Formats: sequence, structure tokens, C-alpha cells
Amino acid sequence: MAKSSQDISRFGAKSTIAEEDQSSTSIVLGRKALDFPLKVKAPSGDKARVISIVNQKGGVGKTTTTINLGASLAELGRRVLLIDFDSQASMTSGLGINQVAIQEQYGSIWHLLNDLNEDVRGTILKTSVPGMDFIRGHYDLAGADSRFASEIAKELMLRKILAPIINEYDDILIDCSPSLGTLTVNALTASDGVIIPMECEFFAVLGLDLVTKTIEKIVAAINPHLEVYGILATMFDRKTAHSREVLALIDGQFPKLLLDTIIPRTVRFSESTVKGMPITTFASSSAAANSYRRLARELISRGGAN
Ligand SMILES: Nc1ncnc2c1ncn2[C@@H]1O[C@H](COP(=O)(O)OP(=O)(O)OP(=O)(O)O)[C@@H](O)[C@H]1O
Ligand SMILES: [Mg+2]
Repeated sequence: MAKSSQDISRFGAKSTIAEEDQSSTSIVLGRKALDFPLKVKAPSGDKARVISIVNQKGGVGKTTTTINLGASLAELGRRVLLIDFDSQASMTSGLGINQVAIQEQYGSIWHLLNDLNEDVRGTILKTSVPGMDFIRGHYDLAGADSRFASEIAKELMLRKILAPIINEYDDILIDCSPSLGTLTVNALTASDGVIIPMECEFFAVLGLDLVTKTIEKIVAAINPHLEVYGILATMFDRKTAHSREVLALIDGQFPKLLLDTIIPRTVRFSESTVKGMPITTFASSSAAANSYRRLARELISRGGAN
């Protein structure tokens, strides 16, 4: 592999992250607390691990998770690429790209989908986080279902786009749109794993079956290697019994899939989006930033990140 991999995080042993800060499934559900060491294993140096952040329900924290998990993996010394695969292009705005620039098709993932021979490297942008790059979205992604309806092997387009750069990153995260249409099928076909963010609200639990069934269909038909890395409880309010009840409900229904890390509900996320920064930069020592850092370490320890 061309670039060197580090075997310690950029925080290294000096990290002051307090595990007590963290809400975790095991603590909330009264089990033995789990620990994910601050010192993580080096990236495998193999091809990138591709992870789709998926839930057909809107507003559950997919984009927030993609940006902040990406930033946390980059802090751990991994080379990260984010892909904005949603026509709302909220990740692209959340990374500070202005509205005028988003309207330009050239240089977006939409442009690449429409010209599979275009060099993907020409569209890769740097973020403000060292080690984290991204490919921006475009509003025309909204027309993907009809645009590619009669295309042969239309579910393989993203896999083909990523093939030339698959050895140049450790982790590639795809921010999916709130639908299970052509784009999400492309993302799942190109992926090794899936993270399903889920707002800690009762109605959100009802939609989980649909996501997991779609994933099963993709595994059976196109991508047998696809794994669910976990369901991520987001917008958790530790002061309400409702959040705890929802967590217990998901744990009962999907016992192996619920991740230990929980993302707390805080206005800091909306504030960081306005500033066009990940929370790990905007409020670096906040519990919210540390929850995404813990998610990155949990993912690595579960074998879900390179
Ligand atoms: N843990 C959190 N606490 C409070 N607000 C949050 C949290 N996570 C995300 N938000 C806010 O909730 C809103 C929706 O989050 P986000 O855009 O990440 O969801 P999404 O699943 O990507 O939505 P969509 O389906 O529309 O793409 C945003 O305003 C975001 O700032
Ligand atoms: Mg989104």
C-alpha cells in the first residue's frame, strides 16, 4: 500500500476521553460496561472497507453519522472517503460547500454515475479534517430511479466507480438517501457493511424490518458478503424513559445488532452543521463528539472498519 498506516490514534495514549461521559447500551440496560480501547489496531492495509449508512426513514442521523464517524476514523489515522449519495446533498453542505457549487453537475457523484468512464479522482475533494476526503452530491440524484430504470447492471454502477480508488482508502462511507431505491441498492451492492442509524423514537423501530429485509434481498441476489455492522441508536435522551424503552425494544428484537455506542441528543449537532464542520472539530471535547469517537473504536473492535 502506498501510504503508511499508523498503529496508534492521533490522540494516542494521551487521550483524555472519559468513558464515563458516554451513554452506552450496556450501561443503560444495566449490563456490564464494555470498553473499546483508545489504542486501536492499525488499518489492515488491504482494500478499503465500504460502509453504507442506511435507513429509509428520514432525519434519523444518517448524514450526521457519516460525517462524524468519518472524522473520528480519520482522527484514528485512517484514510477516509465520504460519498454524498443523497439528492438533498446535506452532507455536502454540512462539509461547508456552498449552494452555488452544489448546483454544478461536473465534479459530483451524479456526474460520475452518468459517465462511468470519467476518472473518479478528479471529483475527490479534501475536507477540513486531515485524512478525510469526500465526493459531493447533487440535487439531480433525485431522478436516479427513472434515469437508470432501463440501464443494464444498474446496481453495479457505484462499485465500478469506486474500483480504481479502492486501495487508496481504509474506509469509504456512503451517506444514503431516505429511500431504498436505485441509489441505495447501488450503495449496498458496493458495500462490505451497513450501519443503520435509528432515532430513539417508537415509530422508528417499526421501520427497521424494512431495512433489514432489503439488506437480506441484496445479500441473496447481488452481494453475498454484505454484513450489518450494527444498528446505531441516535438522538438518545438519557432523561426520558421513552429513549430507554426504545433501546430495550430494539435490543429485544435485534439483540446482536444493536451497537453499544449511543449518540446523545444535543443541539451541538445542528450548530456544527451550520458551521460546516464535524462535531469532532466544532465541539471537540463534547460528549457528543466523544460518542462518535467511541463508535469508530467500537466499529474497529467489531471488525467493521479497516
Ligand atoms: N444526536 C443528535 N441530536 C440532536 N440532533 C441531531 C442528532 N443527530 C442529528 N441531528 C439533527 O437532526 C437532523 C437530521 O439529521 P441528519 O441530517 O443526520 O439525518 P438523516 O437521516 O441524514 O436525514 P435524511 O433522511 O433527510 O437524509 C439534523 O438537523 C441534525 O443536525
Ligand atoms: Mg441525510
